[in-house]
Amino acid sequence: MGATQKYSIIDPATGKIDRGIFSDQAVYDQEMEKIFGRAWLMIGHESLVPKVNDFFHTYMGEDPVILTRDGQGRLHALLNMCRHRGNRVVRCDDGNATRFMCTYHGWTYGSDGKLEHVAGMSEAYYDALDKPSLGLVQARVDTYAGIVFATWAEDAPSLEAFLGDARWYLDTVFNRRDGGMQALGPMKWLEPVNWKTMVDNCSDNYHVPTTHLSSARVQTRYLGRPPLSHKDQFESPNKHVFVNGHSLTFREAPDNTPRYVHGISKDTFPLFQAYHEATLPEVERRLGAFRARHVQLGNHSIFPNGVLGFRLALPRGPLQTEFWHFVLLEKDAPEALKHAIRIGSQANNGAAGLFEQDDVDNWRQVTAASKSRLGRRISQDLSMGLGHAGAHPEYPGVVSERYISENNQRLFYQRWEEFMNAESWADIPIAPITARFEGTATLHG
Ligand code: FES
Ligand SMILES: [Fe+2]
Repeated sequence: MGATQKYSIIDPATGKIDRGIFSDQAVYDQEMEKIFGRAWLMIGHESLVPKVNDFFHTYMGEDPVILTRDGQGRLHALLNMCRHRGNRVVRCDDGNATRFMCTYHGWTYGSDGKLEHVAGMSEAYYDALDKPSLGLVQARVDTYAGIVFATWAEDAPSLEAFLGDARWYLDTVFNRRDGGMQALGPMKWLEPVNWKTMVDNCSDNYHVPTTHLSSARVQTRYLGRPPLSHKDQFESPNKHVFVNGHSLTFREAPDNTPRYVHGISKDTFPLFQAYHEATLPEVERRLGAFRARHVQLGNHSIFPNGVLGFRLALPRGPLQTEFWHFVLLEKDAPEALKHAIRIGSQANNGAAGLFEQDDVDNWRQVTAASKSRLGRRISQDLSMGLGHAGAHPEYPGVVSERYISENNQRLFYQRWEEFMNAESWADIPIAPITARFEGTATLHG
């Protein structure tokens, strides 16, 4: 690769951002190389491949990848590309197989990616083919609380360092129970939007009372949710924090109530409250009393393309994104509660979700504006709350003074610039881990 092109797409002093990054094909091609070729990417969940030789088909950027569990139970992320001419060796979404046979000429790989059989090895290749060097291309794999991450970059820091202090917040959703979580889905659909817009929307609390006004009214009327207004949002004690590329929002919970999830209504609330109280001692042991009782993660993104929980925004060109929506449930939760969350999740998010449909329309207009001849020359304004975020005595990361702020958006695009301008991982800053991880929960669960 030649000298790295230097991007200067955001002015940190004004929050003005160059709209061309949402529609330009050349920028997109470099994103695939410099962001999706480097970062740790969320690719699946251990519960999608529970048994030996299970596999789940996924993507790292646009690269098709098979997440496998080999005969010894180890996880692999294998590029779905036969090393002979490049045919895909897996053509379905998931399954169980000890071997993957390419349907072009029959090269056959083990579930660990090794090339095991080549038709005509003696007769046609005169035993001269170097089989050990022709296994499926493998990415580095690690897990966080059952979520599988992979990276193509040999020089990437550990997953633990990549997540950094963001894990202190993420634990409050993903790492609460000894029994871990299970993923259902995904539901998949295409949206005519640039992938970055959905990521930056994850901590856009400003849009909620406007964009979701009618959906929120339905919730208020039928589910007993409190009405939502701009005033409530502006006065909310909730927090908005940025750590190491990851955008997070969370609630300081002084009142011993469960975290709000889709599925909670006036009818199901007692169920959620009883579960919250019954599991609190376990959660306190795992996360320490402060996080267990007082920190409840809300909307968030994991850099670069993990959005709103365990969901993926998979880029498919500058003007299109494939969205994967999973439902993640605590494995040992009562069935009635899991059922409520499943129904609530589909009703609010997912292709037919009330809230999802509100959002998609905004995102597609924002993307379309970036294509327009004149519009693309006029910057986006991300100036809200400039100069009103910083270190906090209790909470790790860069914490905004108010819940409504564009601090996370500005820092997300600055992180984007850091990746795009780096020659290698040595040029990408990683914030040190400073949070106190009380309790017994670890990176791996
Ligand atoms: S392309 Fe796979 S065996 Fe030839
Ligand atoms: Fe929204």
